Amino acid sequence: MCGIVGYHGKDEASDKIYRGLKKLEYRGYDSAGMATAGNPSIKVDKAVGTVDNVSPEIDGTSGIGHTRWATHGGVTKENAHPHMGEKEKVAVVHNGIIDNYAEIKEEYLDDVEFTSETDTEVIPHLLEKQLEASRSIQEAVENVIEILEGSYAVSAVLHTGELIAFRKGSPLVLGVLEEEYFIASDVTPFLEHTEKAVFLEDDDYMIINGDYEIYNSGDRVEREVKEIDWDAEEASKEGFDHFMEKEIREQSKTVKRAAFQDRSDMEEASEMIEEAEDVYLTGCGTASFAASLGARYLRDAGVQAHTEQAHELEYRSDEINEDDVVIAVSQSGETADLLSLLEEIEADVLAVVNVVGSTLARTSDHTLYVNAGPEIGVASTKAFTAQLAVLKLLSSTIDERLEEGREELLSTAEKIDDVIDDNSETIRELSDYLVEKDHAYFIGRNHGYDLAREANLKLKELSYIHAEAFPGGEFKHGTLALVEDGTPVITFLKDESFDDIHSNMKEAHSRGADIISVGTKQAEESLIHIDIPEDENPELLEVVPFQMASYLTSVKKGNNPDKPRNLAKSVTVK
Ligand code: G6P
Repeated sequence: MCGIVGYHGKDEASDKIYRGLKKLEYRGYDSAGMATAGNPSIKVDKAVGTVDNVSPEIDGTSGIGHTRWATHGGVTKENAHPHMGEKEKVAVVHNGIIDNYAEIKEEYLDDVEFTSETDTEVIPHLLEKQLEASRSIQEAVENVIEILEGSYAVSAVLHTGELIAFRKGSPLVLGVLEEEYFIASDVTPFLEHTEKAVFLEDDDYMIINGDYEIYNSGDRVEREVKEIDWDAEEASKEGFDHFMEKEIREQSKTVKRAAFQDRSDMEEASEMIEEAEDVYLTGCGTASFAASLGARYLRDAGVQAHTEQAHELEYRSDEINEDDVVIAVSQSGETADLLSLLEEIEADVLAVVNVVGSTLARTSDHTLYVNAGPEIGVASTKAFTAQLAVLKLLSSTIDERLEEGREELLSTAEKIDDVIDDNSETIRELSDYLVEKDHAYFIGRNHGYDLAREANLKLKELSYIHAEAFPGGEFKHGTLALVEDGTPVITFLKDESFDDIHSNMKEAHSRGADIISVGTKQAEESLIHIDIPEDENPELLEVVPFQMASYLTSVKKGNNPDKPRNLAKSVTVK
């Protein structure tokens, strides 16, 4: 979803904002823009495409910037943010959706000539009018918030240099330095400058002018200044061509870090689960596959664990009662579909999340951070394996074998690089093969089915090759009709379901499919086989070669693996 950066300080704002937006491009890259304060009017530059198309050299020491993932209005320069008031005294960037923008236009802004098709544009016009009519900036902001309905994170710059920010349902963080302040959608834009962060709460609004003041419902409020122990280095490519490759390669380190959960945190989490009547694991996208595998791990430990993707689980949220526990898995902790479900339920929420201080982390009853560090590539890799590690450790804790579980994870982590290196030729061969294909099918059973879904998602979102995943048993009930000579069928040959999945593989092979297999045992039908060593946590090893193969296929196709078309990393709308 869209990324917001604001800067107020003593240096050129446009340079800081430009650098910050580069870090946030993973949130959207349809268009970008920035605005800086200046008298008599604000300066704006915006363009379709990435931040590189925006001039980093507009002067002024206070300003805002935006990188857009289009929702209302097409991908055009007019629709790019920032948007300005008619008198060019206010510029606004926004992430989210203003539900009542049509009513606002009619009721408050019928004399205004709009220049874009966005819902956002009502905000600068409203704010400009309110600033003229109010006694203070605070009063004007309060009046605007009163009128807006929807979910939003908004930052505005006034021509006189003040920076304004307010949020409801979408994240905003303040980065604090000496006499310098950043506003951003997450901490990555300012990590290179400061580790001090203040996370705004829903309905907070903030005015920065030399100092910062936060208000909520008319009252001044204090919010804790948190230290973020994420390394700025981790948010840079460190010599890799793409963030995704770097993040795949980091996994031996990040899985280890995920395994070092605090014992008392794990025990508290396992108590919540053991005392619950029913346990639901949920998430969206890649995190939903981690949730699904997590449910299998917990069932292995004797827990009644159910799983469903958050946007669907919401339709039966009335089945979840206050004695249940919902385990919410998310990289960003800001996914609207997930947060919306959690608002509907009374059950306790256990978060398994990566981003420190995210809405999910702050609003859940107990949080286990997966500690993967900043994940910039839109397609999730290291956050997924870190989520699996934490969920597996949770299952070990319930089984009263936390330390053994931790040791096993540390040993798995040691093998991740070997799996990539020992199979590097095969992974390259696989991507050379896939790049020529228009369709691919992934099959697996039980744990292997979740892996098939995740590997399928990686290939599809990065290479744009049409791909689908099925339970091995289901494949013959229809989809087999699509198999012809040379159709790739990628099979997760898990040890525990080997005979059955091997049969499904043979059914496809005998209809001409090219079999690509992964597992500890090779089948004679395999055209390409990726070999995985025996391990207590096989899923963490089996997924990695497909992350790499999808990455390489994307690069060979000339796509940008860090920014797949039409997608965004953090989806803060439903
Ligand atoms: C988006 C991203 C996916 C991610 C999903 C859930 O669709 O592109 O990579 O898996 O959101 O995000 P979350 O932050 O909740 O894990």
